[in-house]
Amino acid sequence: MEKKNRAAVLTALKTFEFQDIPMPHAGADEVVVQLKAVGVCGSDVHYYNKGRIGDFVVEFPFILGHECAGVVVEKGENVKHLEIGDQVALEPGVPCGTCEMCRTGHYNLCPDVKFLATPPYNGCLMNYIAFPAAYAFKLPENLSCTEGALLEPLAIGINAALTGGVKLGDTVLISGSGCIGLVTLLAAKAYGASKVIVSDVIPLRLETARKLGAITINSKEENLQERVKELTNGRGVDVVLDCAGFSATVADAVRVVRPAGKVVVVGLGADEWTGIPAGPISNKEIQITSIFRYKNLYPTAINAVASGSIDIKGIISRTYNFDDTPEAFRTALECATETVKNVIVFPD
Ligand SMILES: NC(=O)c1ccc[n+]([C@@H]2O[C@H](COP(=O)([O-])OP(=O)(O)OC[C@H]3O[C@@H](n4cnc5c(N)ncnc54)[C@H](O)[C@@H]3O)[C@@H](O)[C@H]2O)c1
Ligand SMILES: [Zn+2]
Ligand SMILES: [Zn+2]
Repeated sequence: MEKKNRAAVLTALKTFEFQDIPMPHAGADEVVVQLKAVGVCGSDVHYYNKGRIGDFVVEFPFILGHECAGVVVEKGENVKHLEIGDQVALEPGVPCGTCEMCRTGHYNLCPDVKFLATPPYNGCLMNYIAFPAAYAFKLPENLSCTEGALLEPLAIGINAALTGGVKLGDTVLISGSGCIGLVTLLAAKAYGASKVIVSDVIPLRLETARKLGAITINSKEENLQERVKELTNGRGVDVVLDCAGFSATVADAVRVVRPAGKVVVVGLGADEWTGIPAGPISNKEIQITSIFRYKNLYPTAINAVASGSIDIKGIISRTYNFDDTPEAFRTALECATETVKNVIVFPD
């Protein structure tokens, strides 16, 4: 049977249309992947709802989706590491490979990166996509494509924990119990943290964190600084991974981290931070750093899930068929509090 390619195209805010699109073919260094699972990310929902994130503005028609996995159905002549039929996860950001950031080992900071579903580049909510094989990672037999799709947010969590230097025995505070906070929780535990405290202001979100093994603090109802003091016998936490990124959470981070501890800013909840106390930053010799996406972490994420160190399925809220993409986005937006991750799957 001849293959047909169809995309879920965003034609206006909150409006999808299914459109036939050309069947792609693999260039010499590419594979064509039949998509099997696509995760709905906070950024996708933002583009769907508002049409822009900062300077990135959607021009309609636009295709969303960047957390994805599928099956290789065609490969170019130079592709050696993959075979037809392999299940692969696609790392969605393809850097230029030649700029200063790429050459100095920071390819995640490449100014010319082509990132799926970040304007002007379309995403992957379609049946078939051609993609550079170097950014297609083979999944072991025991990983599903749904798990493969969720490696993308997981790589961010792994980068957060790795950058924070989380190690065996540490106490870690994670601010924000959204998808990113939760994948960071999974990663911090996998890196050996003994105690992970997660803060949020929404009880339902904290419940998920508790189920995944965190001690939780509702920072709207409880005094976060006091609670952290109690939980650490006055010492403070070794590492703060701020996955909310509001003034209040950054201010709390520098207050509750122990002397010589680390703060990693992951979230960007506000355009500007105000009210950050200078004293604790100056007195405690803390390291404050940030992460942007990830680099070279897909293999780590794959091994962590395949070996059972991380159970990524725990963040899935609901699964939808490709035909129900509009519903997957509607619920992600309208039921945001009880949604961590909607996943769109493509039935055979
Ligand atoms: N650095 C990166 O590479 C990277 C990658 C992806 C996402 N992000 C950013 O990470 C952040 C989290 O992403 P997400 O998808 O989980 O978003 P999200 O909105 O689902 O989660 C943020 C959470 O923070 C909570 N929150 C709000 N105020 C708080 C407070 N005072 N204390 C504690 N929690 C509070 C919210 O209730 C929410 O649950 C976003 O800002 C996103 O833009 C960064
Ligand atoms: Zn994402
Ligand atoms: Zn580059």
